[in-house]
Amino acid sequence: MQNVLVTGGAGFIGSHLVPHLLALGHQVTVLDDLSNGREENIPSEAEFIKMDICNEKITGVMQKKKFDSIIHLAGQTAVSESLKDPIMDEKLNIEGMINILRSACQTGVARIIFSSTAAAYGNNENLPLRESALATPLSFYGLSKVTAEKYIRLYHDYFGIDYIIFRFANVYGERQGDGGEGGVISIFAKQIANDQDIAVFGDGGQTRDFIYAGDISSGLGQALVTDNTNDTYNLSTYTQTSLKQLITLFGNIAHKNFSIKYTKARSGDIYHSMLDNTKAIEKLDWHMHTSLSEGLNKTFAYFKKVKAEAHQCGDISGDIK
Ligand SMILES: NC(=O)c1ccc[n+]([C@@H]2O[C@H](COP(=O)([O-])OP(=O)(O)OC[C@H]3O[C@@H](n4cnc5c(N)ncnc54)[C@H](O)[C@@H]3O)[C@@H](O)[C@H]2O)c1
Repeated sequence: MQNVLVTGGAGFIGSHLVPHLLALGHQVTVLDDLSNGREENIPSEAEFIKMDICNEKITGVMQKKKFDSIIHLAGQTAVSESLKDPIMDEKLNIEGMINILRSACQTGVARIIFSSTAAAYGNNENLPLRESALATPLSFYGLSKVTAEKYIRLYHDYFGIDYIIFRFANVYGERQGDGGEGGVISIFAKQIANDQDIAVFGDGGQTRDFIYAGDISSGLGQALVTDNTNDTYNLSTYTQTSLKQLITLFGNIAHKNFSIKYTKARSGDIYHSMLDNTKAIEKLDWHMHTSLSEGLNKTFAYFKKVKAEAHQCGDISGDIK
């Protein structure tokens, strides 16, 4: 059993991770400023501290709580926001990271686990992408994540803190918002639940490596106990799914007809993406448990329930925003 701090634990991935860590028997504290998370996502068995990761008082919190490990999820998560406001993106994803690292090293935290991204690779067509591929991000978000990775490696070299860096593929599941990464599944699920047309940017042939948030959580759980630290791992399914395939799968799940509206491709979107997950499977003894159709079923059921609840609460359309 470990005493674990999860930053950003009130967000989408945190809402899957924190219950998983509690079920494994860990003691969990969530630190989140609720800028994009929700307090109801945090189970009552976890302690909650409402705080910004850039707040210097974090050192005092860590001093008092004596954490064994930190899983750092908090930060700016949207490529589009990073392009609109690079300074805000840099503050949260780099300065916030440094504040966590500095406090962790000052207070004897043994291990930090970081949520980096496939966006670190940029538009590299040599699929599947292995961790050794050059990191050439195309957005400020990707750049701030790659820079944070570099800070972690140097903090390890200078101050000895152990680390695991994960580059997540496109994560999806219940409670996902549509602002950050990987939002296309939650966007489609909401549009279908709301009986709207599905809006596709581009021709729908673009592919992504979609991984269920529960499988991300099990990888993060393995990272707490592995001896294979101080390395970078992809967490992905090693599978490409096109948006057209996704829509077909949704059709089978939702049992309804919907029309698809194709619009102009967004500039800067990469066409294909797939990450090699061999290293995480071999070195972290990590296994995926959720097939895409199973994960989509769970995700759609969640958004259908949210729609039904909104309807009951008097929202006449019941539309999920
Ligand atoms: N969802 C994906 O597909 C995906 C893919 C790759 C990497 N990631 C990374 O995984 C992490 C979690 O992503 P998510 O999808 O759960 O995002 P999310 O936005 O749902 O969760 C992030 C959480 O961090 C909190 N937060 C933001 N700024 C904060 C601050 N300054 N201080 C304290 N808390 C703050 C938010 O309130 C939110 O609860 C992020 O770092 C993201 O970049 C996500």
